[in-house]
Amino acid sequence: MSDKISLSLQVNGDAHALVIAPERTLLDVLREELRYTGTKRGCDQGSCGACTVLVDGEPVFSCLSLAVTLRDRAITTIEAVEAGNELHPVQRALVQHGAVQCGFCIPGIVIAAKALLDRNPHPTVDEVRQALGSNTCRCSGYAKIVGAIASLGERP
Ligand code: FES
Repeated sequence: MSDKISLSLQVNGDAHALVIAPERTLLDVLREELRYTGTKRGCDQGSCGACTVLVDGEPVFSCLSLAVTLRDRAITTIEAVEAGNELHPVQRALVQHGAVQCGFCIPGIVIAAKALLDRNPHPTVDEVRQALGSNTCRCSGYAKIVGAIASLGERP
């Protein structure tokens, strides 16, 4: 077994002191140590996007990121996307457009869409498709998902 390493991770604005094996991924730590279970484990190999979180505002596959490389980085999970009891506009749009089916992919899609809208508040449909290009919906509900997020770009 590898020697464990001490580190502090900043998750959703809170500092968490951890002692972990160096090979543990951010996804392992979020779900199994810190109980941020909104971040989903799909493929565990970087091809489905279910595990997407923000690191310093950029979407990252947490299943491919070693936790020990993320000291002092700002990690944001789906748990911090809501403002109080209010859904994030992306979440509200997905609900209003009937774009949530089984829901498993939705946390990763919300995170990827938030990252897009934070840097480009008025994305085109093609830009939404590109931003979600690494997120798989097992129910294949892409048309409604893209339409919901693109509708946010049409706001004044
Ligand atoms: Fe990380 Fe699928 S679980 S990309």
